[in-house]
Amino acid sequence: MAFPTDRPRRLRSSDTMRRLVRETTLSADDFILPLFVCEGENIKNPVQSMPGVYQMSIDNLIKECKEVKELGIPGVILFGIPAYKDEMGSEAYNEHGIIQKAVKAIKENVKDLLVLTDVCMCEYTDHGHCGIIKNGEVDNDETLKYLAMEALTHVKAGADMVAPSDMMDGRIEALREILDDNGYTNTPIMSYSAKYCSAFYGPFREAAESTPKFGDRKTYQMDPANRMEGLKEAELDILEGADIIMVKPALPYLDVISDLKRNFDRPVAAYHVSGEYAMIMAAAQLGWLDGHRAMMESLTSIKRAGADIIITYYAKEAVKSLAK
Ligand code: PBG
Repeated sequence: MAFPTDRPRRLRSSDTMRRLVRETTLSADDFILPLFVCEGENIKNPVQSMPGVYQMSIDNLIKECKEVKELGIPGVILFGIPAYKDEMGSEAYNEHGIIQKAVKAIKENVKDLLVLTDVCMCEYTDHGHCGIIKNGEVDNDETLKYLAMEALTHVKAGADMVAPSDMMDGRIEALREILDDNGYTNTPIMSYSAKYCSAFYGPFREAAESTPKFGDRKTYQMDPANRMEGLKEAELDILEGADIIMVKPALPYLDVISDLKRNFDRPVAAYHVSGEYAMIMAAAQLGWLDGHRAMMESLTSIKRAGADIIITYYAKEAVKSLAK
């Protein structure tokens, strides 16, 4: 059966008709908002390349979390800007470090909001790499011990879930083991499974002050050209105990999101990263794009591809517009 009998336009004739046959809808439940927390009081430093995103001290972070909760967004993911950095990234696993203090404060002040933490060394090391350096290279197995300590301090502080983004081999197993050994058998791990070595992290590195001082992240983050390897990374993470698998960035990797959704029985998260946000914001500021429509179309596409969870700096704005 084809034209003129079949006319797909029949089901596009009005907004009501389109609503009836819509295949993908966004809801507040889909989102997690990333937040950057720093030391000090009453601080709200705008991030230049991400209009609407701030580095916030804990007092302002709590206000923000209350608003997120009121909007019905299930959770936030925290990134820390420590008081100081050193070679071993010691603030990452200091039980009085910025993330540990922030998690505690949110848990004391805001009910029923999931607090996720990013587990990685790059914000805490003076060289800006995601692990411990030995002989000029990021040492995989040595780094695992530090990541495990970091995750444990986050969970002890009250984190509901940990999300390792370092891309070391074996890190999910290392985290699962230390959490289980300490009685945190019920704390889930959301793994940044297919995390690509991407230009789209640029604005984040300004926000988190985590640009590597030498070299790049190509020996641990994935080659953007590889699709099959995304499946392999996700499979290994699941075997090691990952509860949620993530693809990052989102829009340039919709094929990988779709692959993970079809092949595994775990919720799939997608991280709509800083550069994806900055691109839309910049084009909208220039009047070259309708920013609001570009945002909703991007987020809908990420969900259509198979994401169950979308981590995005647009979470609040998207949810506000859904409520209208
Ligand atoms: C830490 C980390 C990064 C992002 C999330 N966790 C930066 C990086 O790997 O360089 C990027 C998030 C974004 O761009 O929004 N390793």
